[in-house]
Amino acid sequence: MKQPTLTKKLAPSLLSADFSRLAEHVALVESAGAQLLHIDVMDGHFVPNISFGPVVMKSLLGKTGLPFDVHLMIENPDLYIKDFVTENTEYITVHAEACVHLHRTIQYIKSFGIKAGVALNPSTPFCVLDYVLEELDQVLLMSVNPGFGGQAFIPSALAKLEELAIQKEKRNPGLVIAMDGGITTENVKAVTDRGVSLVVAGSAVFSAPDPAQAVKEFLVQMA
Ligand code: DX5
Ligand code: ZN
Repeated sequence: MKQPTLTKKLAPSLLSADFSRLAEHVALVESAGAQLLHIDVMDGHFVPNISFGPVVMKSLLGKTGLPFDVHLMIENPDLYIKDFVTENTEYITVHAEACVHLHRTIQYIKSFGIKAGVALNPSTPFCVLDYVLEELDQVLLMSVNPGFGGQAFIPSALAKLEELAIQKEKRNPGLVIAMDGGITTENVKAVTDRGVSLVVAGSAVFSAPDPAQAVKEFLVQMA
């Protein structure tokens, strides 16, 4: 059985960074203590927005030591997973709603030596993970409908989080529970207190007047 992950980590989402100064913005949050970079990939089909793909992500290789937490909000993720496998890639997360053969996709991610995650939209019940939970390294609970940064936190995500935290203890103590969407320095403690160990924050970091200071405030709240 996997060992429990005790440390809480912050993964700023690049979606809200200034794309014309990407490496600079990444260096800022890295030096402030962020532990991963959350990479939001959107295809305009699974979600009603298009962000960026592997080329932009790979432009950061050699410019940051931060591990990549890749969040694929795309249809047919199996076709693109290998394009996101890099020396920095720690997690690749697919949406349960986008996978016809979720078990197979999880094994495919792991075949590259990458940790596998599954994301659930706010309306997707936890039970879709009933038969794969032991296979997973991360579950990403969406606390907004994916597609855009800067949306408000959906409170029902907390009930799903509590359910997942119970299942994690029983079935996969090493599982990382991540939450994504509408998380700020005001509400982050409510999610980490309930079992989130990987916090994703986009606008609350990169749209803050001082992103480095925002990272530090998050880390204080999460301690
Ligand atoms: C939403 C993305 C998020 C987004 C979060 O579809 O998956 O990662 O960047 O942005 P905030 O933190 O602003 O809600
Ligand atoms: Zn995301």
